Amino acid sequence: MLTVKLVENKTELEQAFKIRIEVFVREQNVPEQIEIDEFDDIADHVIALRDGEPVGCGRVFFEDGYARIGRVAVLPKERKKGTGKLICEKLISIAKDKGARKFVLDAQVRASGFYEKLGFSVTSGVFIEAGIEHVRMEADADNLN
Ligand SMILES: CC(C)(COP(=O)(O)OP(=O)(O)OC[C@H]1O[C@@H](n2cnc3c(N)ncnc32)[C@H](O)[C@@H]1OP(=O)(O)O)[C@@H](O)C(=O)NCCC(=O)NCCS
Repeated sequence: MLTVKLVENKTELEQAFKIRIEVFVREQNVPEQIEIDEFDDIADHVIALRDGEPVGCGRVFFEDGYARIGRVAVLPKERKKGTGKLICEKLISIAKDKGARKFVLDAQVRASGFYEKLGFSVTSGVFIEAGIEHVRMEADADNLN
């Protein structure tokens, strides 16, 4: 069974960080020193659990009037099973409950189709972050489930 839950303690936060290290640092070569950042202290985090085992994560925090989604990661063996979608829906729901009216994220270009399916649209040209091509994407809360 797949569940996605709000991170509520240090153990769960460490499980989320472990997945991020696995996906962004080991798989995608993002420098470890920028992977965990100051926004982790203010963000709401979620973890996805498959039969109790952590398989994915994500975070959301408020910035300049937007709810900013980021660090969405699913372990390779768990991809294309709806886990990433469920993580984003939980993040959106958490932020909407706190009053979010608009959402923003910086998507890896190769993942932009994933966010388009959720209702996001590209609002910038391509830029490089951590050596990876990204685009800014935005959505109004009313257009997101
Ligand atoms: C991007 C990522 C989070 C997607 O997670 P996932 O669990 O595989 O996605 P889902 O199975 O929930 O996919 C939901 C829908 O998006 C589609 N999709 C998934 N990845 C996609 C991609 N890279 N491009 C286009 N569509 C994609 C799926 O086919 C599915 O479509 P459907 O609803 O029509 O069946 C995952 O591939 C991942 O962790 N990648 C490495 C880390 C990363 O790049 N994170 C994003 C940083 S911006």
